[in-house]
Amino acid sequence: NGVGMGTAALLAGLPQAEAAPAMQSASDTFEPDVALELIALPRSVSLRPGRATSLWSYQSRVLKGDPASVQALPDSYLGPILRLRRGQKVRIDFINRLDQPSTVHWHGLHVPDTMDGHPRFAIGPGELYRYEFEVRNRAGTYWYHPHPHGHTGEQVYFGLAGLLLVSDEEEQALPLPRGQYDLPIVIQDRSFDDGNQLRYLSGTGPTARGDASGAPSAPGNTMGGRGMMGGMMSRGAMMSGGMGDMMTRMMGFLGDTILVNGRPESLIEVATHPYRLRILNGSNSRIYKLAWQDGRPLTVIGTDGGLLERPVHKDYVMLAPAERVELWADFSKDDLGTQLTMMSLAFEGAMGRMMDMMGGSFMGGAMGGSSLAAGVRFPIFTVKVARKANGSLELPDRLSAISWPRLQDAVNRAKPRTFRITMAQMQWGFNGRSFEMTAVAPNEVVKLRTTEVWEFANDSGMMTMAHAIHVHDQQFQVPERRHGMGNNRVRDGYVDQGWKDTVLVMPGDRVKLLMRFADYPGLYLYHCHMLEHEDLGLMRNYRIEA
Ligand code: C2O
Ligand code: CU
Repeated sequence: NGVGMGTAALLAGLPQAEAAPAMQSASDTFEPDVALELIALPRSVSLRPGRATSLWSYQSRVLKGDPASVQALPDSYLGPILRLRRGQKVRIDFINRLDQPSTVHWHGLHVPDTMDGHPRFAIGPGELYRYEFEVRNRAGTYWYHPHPHGHTGEQVYFGLAGLLLVSDEEEQALPLPRGQYDLPIVIQDRSFDDGNQLRYLSGTGPTARGDASGAPSAPGNTMGGRGMMGGMMSRGAMMSGGMGDMMTRMMGFLGDTILVNGRPESLIEVATHPYRLRILNGSNSRIYKLAWQDGRPLTVIGTDGGLLERPVHKDYVMLAPAERVELWADFSKDDLGTQLTMMSLAFEGAMGRMMDMMGGSFMGGAMGGSSLAAGVRFPIFTVKVARKANGSLELPDRLSAISWPRLQDAVNRAKPRTFRITMAQMQWGFNGRSFEMTAVAPNEVVKLRTTEVWEFANDSGMMTMAHAIHVHDQQFQVPERRHGMGNNRVRDGYVDQGWKDTVLVMPGDRVKLLMRFADYPGLYLYHCHMLEHEDLGLMRNYRIEA
């Protein structure tokens, strides 16, 4: 039968985007409750007046099980929202119709290592990879995106990402906003050229070879001579090749336009009712400091790994790439016509200013000429109270019962495993080592069914900037942060009361993670989720040994 669990099959002969062939799994015992097909393919979407934008996009359909498992977003480049329930067995046949290798990573999910989208399992154009796993995570807002080595930033930037929402019985029993009152909000920053095409590193994306849309040429070919010293372009737009690309990879890409749910329109009409806002930072490298513009506090009910034990009120919330935060936003007492903007507040320290100097003055056209450097203030989206709703809901003061791992149970509590973020020879690394496809260093081996403390130290050398550390296969706790200099403007914005899979580590900080390695032995990744950093080596394997 050719195709098995975790193996790739050639489908090059198949007509474009047609039905996947009937296939049998090598694992006879895996009987899926839900079977989906997920295709990555070039597509163009009309995002701005004028020419459509050439993108890559995920398309999906249900082959077996609940038809509501896939919710397409027709006018967006984002992949469909996948809706799964805890305990379901899921099969997803991924078909790669790009012109480069890819994988799919189920960000935040706890799955066997062959199902995790590791770059060692990348499949080429025309191939199929069968993902099969049981949903073991709690209810929460997870997401999926590509993970091929060296091209994750490119593939996500050009459109490959989608939400994966898990529900469970505990969550179903709570009086939370549902249906139209349960609103996903994916925030991403992008830069467009005059022809409405996305700008990224030279020679990247669906038009890089001039094939997908008849674009004149890659932007990188036309912009030599301007660049980092020009002072008038965003870092993301430094397309002068060589040096500009290298700077962008080292610093991280910042776009000059904010997109919400894969669309440039930023007005969301709501009713006088409480909402559950599931916010994902799907940006490549931009960090947001979220706050309502009228100063009302944010009511946080969930983080990366689902609901908190009880709601937490915050003046602002820091959201690094790949992090999620769930808010309870109650508009029931707002007058019709009220508009309320979600801002990103200023928080730049010395680092933001340095990036400004190096990257130019960030004169973003689409934001009305406003500056969009790292850590400046700008609007993200606006909510307009447009209609009356019937009924309401009370914010529960107990959301979830969580059994946390305990610090005293950590086998290495006296001496945490330390990972220092380093930069050498224009490569990022952990403890001086950049990504290697399958290698693990001695300090990267842990034992199955143990609890450990890991410490990420962002305090070496002069190239110190913020990072977003993500550990695959785990949801962890953040038991301790030690702050370095310059964090006064962000430190009240961490939501460490919940399960996390990605954590913001600001310059100078040392952050401890507490986690238990359960169920699956294997080779998994940990890395920075600022995707240019990841692609430039800030990613390593760790091995869970049985
Ligand atoms: Cu969301 Cu290894 O990634
Ligand atoms: Cu980083």
